Amino acid sequence: MADKKRVLSGMRPTGRLHLGNLHGALENWVNLQDQYECFYFIADWHALTTDYASPGDIRENSRQMLLDWLSAGLDPNRSTLFIQSDVKEHAELYLLLAMITPLAWLERNPTYKEQQQQLDQKDLGTYGFLGYPVLQAADIIVYRANGVPVGKDQLPHIELTREIARRFNFLYKSEIFPVPDGLLTQSPVLPGLDGRKMSKSYGNCIFITDSEKDIAEKILRMMTDPQRIRRNDPGDPEVCPVFAYHKLYSSPSEIEEVAHGCRTAGIGCVDCKKILIKNVAARLAPVRQKRAQLENDVEGLRDIIARGNARAAREAAATMELVRAAIGI
Ligand code: TRP
Ligand code: SF4
Repeated sequence: MADKKRVLSGMRPTGRLHLGNLHGALENWVNLQDQYECFYFIADWHALTTDYASPGDIRENSRQMLLDWLSAGLDPNRSTLFIQSDVKEHAELYLLLAMITPLAWLERNPTYKEQQQQLDQKDLGTYGFLGYPVLQAADIIVYRANGVPVGKDQLPHIELTREIARRFNFLYKSEIFPVPDGLLTQSPVLPGLDGRKMSKSYGNCIFITDSEKDIAEKILRMMTDPQRIRRNDPGDPEVCPVFAYHKLYSSPSEIEEVAHGCRTAGIGCVDCKKILIKNVAARLAPVRQKRAQLENDVEGLRDIIARGNARAAREAAATMELVRAAIGI
C-alpha cells in the first residue's frame, strides 16, 4: 500500500455530470483506483473564482456531483473523496505559494486571457482569478501528489504547479514537494446533441442520470449526417454524432451493421438511433440505480464526506508542518 504512487484531481461543482464528463474524466478516475492511492475533491473555492457574484447553490451542486461520482464507481473505501473548502490547509499553502510565485508566470498563463475573453459577461479582472493556478498548485502539492489526471485544457496549470513546486524546494532548500506529472486522459471528445462539444452552457447534454425516456427523446432529436436528407440518401457515419456514440456504446457487430447500413442507405436514422438508445440506456441503468439508492441515504453520504475530509486533512496537516518548518515560521 505505502509504495503506491499518489494521484489527485478535482472538479468544480457544476452539478449533475454529463456523458462528456463521464467518458472524459470520471471513468479514468475510477480505473486509476486499482493502481494508485487516489485523492479526488470538489473544488468549491475554485467555483468562486468565476462565480463569486452569483455563487448559486454550491453546496447542493457539490452534493449532486458527489452522488454522480459514487454512482459512476468512485469507491470511498479506496479513494479519499473530499471537499476543498473543508480542508483549510489548501488556503494556508495558497497564501504561502502566493509569496513566491512571480506575477509574470500568472499573466502569461494562456487559460487566463482565454477565459477572460470567453466569459466576458463576468468581471474576471480579480486577484482571485489571476491566482487560480496558485490555488490549484496548492491543492495538488499539499498532498505531495505524484500525478494529476486531467484533460488537455489543464496542462498549463500543471506546468505552473511544477514550476511552483520546484521554486519552493529551491528557495527553502527542501525536498518536500515531488514535481507532479500531468496524466493525460486520452478519450475522444464526445459530441453533444447538436454536434458541438458537449457542454452545459450549450444545453446539448445527456446527463448520466437521465431517465430512459430522457435518453430516448434526446437521441431521437440528435443531429445526424447533414448530407443525408432523405431516407434513401446514403450517409457518412464518420461525420455523424450518432455514430460517435455507437463507437462507445454498441457492440462491434452493431457498429459494423450501422456503418454499412448508413453508407448504403440500408438503415434509416431512426432505426439507427433506436439501437443506440437501447445501448446507452443499458449502460446507464446501473449508474441510475446506484444513485437512487444513495440519494435517500443522507447519513451515509455525510459519513463518506466526513471520512474523506478527515483523511485529507490529516495528510495536508502533515505537509504543512514540514512547510512551516522549512520556511521557519
Ligand atoms: N481547474 C480544474 C478544472 O477546471 C479543477 C481543479 C482545481 C483541479 N484544482 C485542481 C484539477 C487540482 C486537478 C488538480 O477542471
Ligand atoms: Fe447517423 Fe445512423 Fe443516420 Fe448514418 S444512419 S446518418 S450513422 S444516424
